Amino acid sequence: MMSSTPDRNIGLELVRVTESAALASAPWMGRNKKIEADKAAVDAMRLMLNTIAMDGVIVIGEGEKDKAPMLFNGERIGNYDAGFDVPKCDLAVDPIDGTRPLALGLPNSIAVVALAERGSMFFPGPIVYMDKLAVGPEAAGVIDLNASVADNLNAIARAKGKSVTELVVVVLDRPRHEQLVSEIRATGARLKMISDGDVAPSIASCLPDTGVDAVMGAGGAPEAVITAAALKCLHGEIHARLYARDEKEKKLAEELGYDCNRVMTSADLVKSDNVFFAATGITDGELLRGVHYSAMGATTESLAMRSSSGTMRRILATHRSEKLQQILSDQKERMAEREKLK
Ligand code: FBP
Repeated sequence: MMSSTPDRNIGLELVRVTESAALASAPWMGRNKKIEADKAAVDAMRLMLNTIAMDGVIVIGEGEKDKAPMLFNGERIGNYDAGFDVPKCDLAVDPIDGTRPLALGLPNSIAVVALAERGSMFFPGPIVYMDKLAVGPEAAGVIDLNASVADNLNAIARAKGKSVTELVVVVLDRPRHEQLVSEIRATGARLKMISDGDVAPSIASCLPDTGVDAVMGAGGAPEAVITAAALKCLHGEIHARLYARDEKEKKLAEELGYDCNRVMTSADLVKSDNVFFAATGITDGELLRGVHYSAMGATTESLAMRSSSGTMRRILATHRSEKLQQILSDQKERMAEREKLK
């Protein structure tokens, strides 16, 4: 009989989920078809999530911001009628973080999923952005989103035993970051402006020799929760605050009971200490190699992490294409049967 908390094997099951999303969306690379790529990743992710013995709820789905195909917020997922006591879980998914780079054949798109105990993930509602500051383990505990950019960078540099001029700060290349970029430049720190995908560099800030010391700026609110899950596994830290784009959104947030002034920590974004995270590269990136094809099938590179053990696994897999097709079509049939019985 299974325990009612997620058991360690779930971490490895999640790798199958992100591998499937990556394998399903990689054929869309460079075809400039964001919706089709997203749909392929979402469908594959849903199919695989439904094979896991859990009673899951999608707390962080994706799609609202870009009107993309979604795993719906509130959607019940998993093999919850497996016939034994399955764990109740919250899930945060991003079938493709970096839909645009994938569509354009550019680097750094990944598939990600995070899982934690039921009721532990923050739901940002209709607020699509959060202001973020993410760092690795040495600088966790010294950051403060309410402090100035200079104070934060000085604190991070001290904690890492570097000078500020040696730091590399990753920022999404967006007009909204003009002021932030000039404040970072004024400290002498170096900048890496990215076109998309702030989850991968946040993870990179926790790993040695990646050349990333911090990620700053406003990015997706769902990605903030996903990043918090990953950083809890790696002992890094993210601070995030809801970022309303205009007065109308600010008013909406207030009406819904959200506090746009509150700085949330990783522990506020994901309360549980039993967190699982998996990611697979879709296009080649600095954190993960993308999907590559050979006569045999395809290869993937993934990360699997679990907060309670602190283990991070890098998993290289070779997938035989005909077997993959078989598994996916069997699973589709099982899901269709389940729908009929409802
Ligand atoms: P998706 O590919 O999932 O749409 O997200 C890409 C992304 O770059 C995130 O990593 C980031 O947090 C967010 O979009 C930034 O939003 P925007 O592109 O609207 O500035």
